[in-house]
Amino acid sequence: MALITFQNFSFRYKRSDIYALKNINLEIETNEFILLAGETGSGKTTLIRCMNGLIPQFYSGYYKGKILVNGNDTTKISIADLSTIVGIVFQTPENQLIAMNVEYEIAFGMENLGVPRELIKEKLEEVIRLTEIENILDRAPFEISGGEQQRVAIASILALEPEILILDEPTANLDPFFAGKILKLLKKIQIEKKITIIIIEHRLDLVLPFVDEIILMKEGEILQKDDKQKVINGPIFKNLNINKPLIYSIFLQLKENDLIKEPIPVSIQEAINLIKQKL
Ligand SMILES: Nc1ncnc2c1ncn2[C@@H]1O[C@H](COP(=O)(O)OP(=O)(O)OP(=O)(O)O)[C@@H](O)[C@H]1O
Ligand SMILES: [Mg+2]
Repeated sequence: MALITFQNFSFRYKRSDIYALKNINLEIETNEFILLAGETGSGKTTLIRCMNGLIPQFYSGYYKGKILVNGNDTTKISIADLSTIVGIVFQTPENQLIAMNVEYEIAFGMENLGVPRELIKEKLEEVIRLTEIENILDRAPFEISGGEQQRVAIASILALEPEILILDEPTANLDPFFAGKILKLLKKIQIEKKITIIIIEHRLDLVLPFVDEIILMKEGEILQKDDKQKVINGPIFKNLNINKPLIYSIFLQLKENDLIKEPIPVSIQEAINLIKQKL
């Protein structure tokens, strides 16, 4: 059974006349690192709000079809229960951080769920190690940098042991160096914990090397979900109005001028390997 299943799901926000999601059929499996990409307003954030029950339980509107998370209908299970399966880190983590210090911030969610003290201590140690925030535990969440806040938000959610970790533009407020560090960290967590990570990200050049699969959205519809190699070598990606990686644009030109026949590389390293073969 898939972790998340959308069955013919459509959703329109209450004060809007257009459907933000149109007839979504989608299955998310375990142990995958997925990039969710698409033009602005295409419905990416709306899609993930459905995965933890915020839609339709918190955002009112009109919906058709069904969403199952671990077999549970998202309209029939509480958001609190869903949060132990699906954890979401939103774009501005400072709005999610509420405690007096980082350590308590991470413990807070577990305490709310009634996790026993001993287990809280154990989990704290594990997520602090995973997110490498040992040196900022005593600081207040508003006294740390954007990149550190991202780590703390990730640690707080990981402590609840979700099967799916979703991040909505986690690097939007970070410089490329810190963005790269967060992405490396996510890859490490994904491999170590074998969870599914879904990341919404506009900076494809940064994120492509790390992900396995890509979901492409446009105007509320899912256009494609497949292995990243297949997606970036296909016509849908090419025609989508999104910020393509520089490597992609160069190799697309080479391909269209019949200078290479191989698939377009997804990272600088793959591009170098391909060039080496040609030299
Ligand atoms: N709370 C809301 N109430 C009404 N309409 C909304 C709400 N949130 C989003 N929408 C609308 O739903 C559509 C999809 O928006 P969504 O935020 O899901 O897009 P997105 O792909 O995440 O865009 P971006 O890349 O800019 O974050 C848009 O037309 C948007 O205006
Ligand atoms: Mg969005």
